[in-house]
Amino acid sequence: MTDEPKLESDAGNSEGIGVREPIFPPWTDHLVKLLGLGGAFSGAYVAILAIFGLSPYMIAIGYMPKQVVSYDHSLHAGELGIDCRYCHTTVEYAAFAAIPPTQTCMNCHDKIFKTSPKLAPVRESYASGEAVEWTKVHDLPGYVYFNHSAHVTRGVSCVSCHGRVDRMEEVFQQEPLSMGWCLDCHRAPAKNLRPVRISEVDALVAQGLLEAPPPSKSGIPANRRLLDDARVTNLGWGQDLSKSDREKIGQVLLAERGLVDGGGNPTVRFDTLTSCSTCHR
Ligand code: HEC
Ligand code: HEC
Ligand code: HEC
Ligand code: HEC
Ligand code: HEC
Repeated sequence: MTDEPKLESDAGNSEGIGVREPIFPPWTDHLVKLLGLGGAFSGAYVAILAIFGLSPYMIAIGYMPKQVVSYDHSLHAGELGIDCRYCHTTVEYAAFAAIPPTQTCMNCHDKIFKTSPKLAPVRESYASGEAVEWTKVHDLPGYVYFNHSAHVTRGVSCVSCHGRVDRMEEVFQQEPLSMGWCLDCHRAPAKNLRPVRISEVDALVAQGLLEAPPPSKSGIPANRRLLDDARVTNLGWGQDLSKSDREKIGQVLLAERGLVDGGGNPTVRFDTLTSCSTCHR
């Protein structure tokens, strides 16, 4: 057989050592071509998926757009301990979590780090009155209805949906924000719930699920301090509790709030959480 395909490297070696037999039989050549084609196809397939967003789920997790100011949450919310609500002022009473205006930054930065080059865009914005152009990180499609206050006022912490933002230098999307993800929690929210009322704290203490701290010099009652500690903006809360205790705490809260009845069965309000019109109105 003279028309047998030769490997590239054979050409140079053919003089001294003689022609090597191809390692693979000729028919594999076609297979290689086919595989190459297959490769090209799967590449195109991935691109098409990306373009048409058939898999927003895969693409969005970890999304971390570059911001014009390298604002650091792990510094401000973490180390300095500034409460999320100091900047995201509307989370408790509106659907939308406001991004702070430049004035909020200037409350501190007209006194400290006044000349920092990193803050130049903030100073320009302050002088011109034009908002800093922050790039949105989390973004649901327009046909989905989401509401921050509905979650935050029922003791679902920012951490359940955004992760440990207080440890992120730059915010990125931690959760898929897909319909399945919303529904997973709506079907079984217990482990994500925290007390939001004194009466709820008292119920949890009475059942031995929360431990009343010793009296403090401030004179603030133990249950008040427990409630403050469990605030939704304290992202690290509950880490010392076991999974099963978190679940039990949630079950007590679901009963307190009328989402389950005396027999532990879901009420109409619970069922509404998974009905289409709750999120698509
Ligand atoms: C000193 C002000 C400040 C504080 C305090 C603060 N943030 Fe922010 N946050 C910002 C600014 C400015 C942005 C927009 C720039 C960015 O995305 O980093 C932002 C963006 C975000 C985003 C992304 C929004 C989007 O575009 O999808 C989330 C989520 C967020 N913050 C959560 C939190 C949480 C949770 C806390 C408390 C642990 C917190 N922030 C505390 C100023 C603040
Ligand atoms: C409550 C006060 C306070 C507020 C409000 C505040 N910051 Fe800061 N910021 C600080 C402090 C303190 C530091 C310095 C921390 C350190 O490095 O010791 C700092 C540091 C910074 C730096 C780093 C500066 C450098 O040169 O290293 C940037 C950038 C910054 N802040 C941006 C912002 C932006 C944007 C906002 C508004 C969304 C904001 N800060 C709101 C207190 C504040
Ligand atoms: C139940 C899940 C959930 C909880 C709890 C939650 N968020 Fe969000 N957050 C979202 C989703 C989903 C979006 C995207 C909303 C959209 O695109 O319409 C978002 C968007 C944001 C944004 C961008 C502005 C906006 O409203 O689109 C900020 C800032 C933010 N969240 C901060 C917070 C803070 C601070 C907390 C806690 C006090 C918090 N979030 C609690 C799910 C949540
Ligand atoms: C970590 C848990 C969790 C996640 C994730 C979550 N939710 Fe919720 N959601 C809740 C809880 C808890 C309530 C309030 C239940 C109650 O007490 O009535 C709620 C309530 C709501 C309500 C208000 C219902 C009403 O009629 O009062 C809407 C709307 C909603 N969620 C939409 C969404 C959407 C959209 C997503 C996904 C983008 C989402 N939620 C993700 C836990 C969650
Ligand atoms: C708890 C909130 C929630 C409930 C309840 C809910 N959806 Fe969705 N739905 C979403 C979210 C969030 C998205 C956007 C998903 C994405 O961007 O990946 C979505 C997307 C969709 C889409 C767009 C196609 C897709 O998968 O991207 C359709 C169709 C849809 N929902 C139908 C329904 C129907 C029918 C029901 C009732 C059986 C329902 N949804 C109940 C939150 C919800």
